[in-house]
Amino acid sequence: MEREKLIRIFDRQAARYASNKDPSSLRRWRRQLLSHAEGEVLELAVGAGANFPYYPAEVKVTAADFSEEMLAEARKKASACNIQAELICTDIEKMEFSSHSFDTIVSTLSFCCYENPLDMLKKIQRWCRPDGRILLLEHGISSNFFVSSTQRALNPLLYKMIGCHQTRDILKLGRDSGLNVHRSESHWLNMFHIIWASPGTEEIF
Ligand SMILES: C[S@@+](CC[C@H](N)C(=O)[O-])C[C@H]1O[C@@H](n2cnc3c(N)ncnc32)[C@H](O)[C@@H]1O
Repeated sequence: MEREKLIRIFDRQAARYASNKDPSSLRRWRRQLLSHAEGEVLELAVGAGANFPYYPAEVKVTAADFSEEMLAEARKKASACNIQAELICTDIEKMEFSSHSFDTIVSTLSFCCYENPLDMLKKIQRWCRPDGRILLLEHGISSNFFVSSTQRALNPLLYKMIGCHQTRDILKLGRDSGLNVHRSESHWLNMFHIIWASPGTEEIF
């Protein structure tokens, strides 16, 4: 899909994302994951700032999204949560940061959107300090045959409507990218994955 069209799809959803309709399990997973964030944090595709309530107080967040409407909501959320956040409007797939720029890189529900998720996973390992943390909460294809068949059937329609692919194999993408996964949990018939990882080899969790 053309970038401009994808951005408009997310612009239109900004108010819904800001309305805090996360199911309680999603809120619990965000809290569980983000308690491990520290130092200089890069959050990819921040949306309406749904993670801001869960960051430890001392972190400094750089957060990117290509939807101005999402960023307007994220700005309000950062101020309500007293989070130090620099918000950047950019296509994160085209963005470059210097190697080893961040202590923590966070992505929640963003790898469903990228044109090239494998490249994105490789990039964030470069941007993260070697002893840094990569914290992911992502959704993708279920391991259950009936659920995955439905996901495959609905994927073209849902991508057009909400801009998210339903069929990404998140754990395989992690392995293929060389991500060093320290711990992971899968939920809801393996559709949701919480991953604590690093680009290096040290056990930090
Ligand atoms: C499914 S929403 C998730 C938002 C947020 N991370 C959350 O957990 O609620 C996906 C977000 O990714 C953004 N996005 C998708 N592709 C992007 C890209 N290439 N660069 C920057 N932002 C992107 C969209 O604008 C949208 O805000």
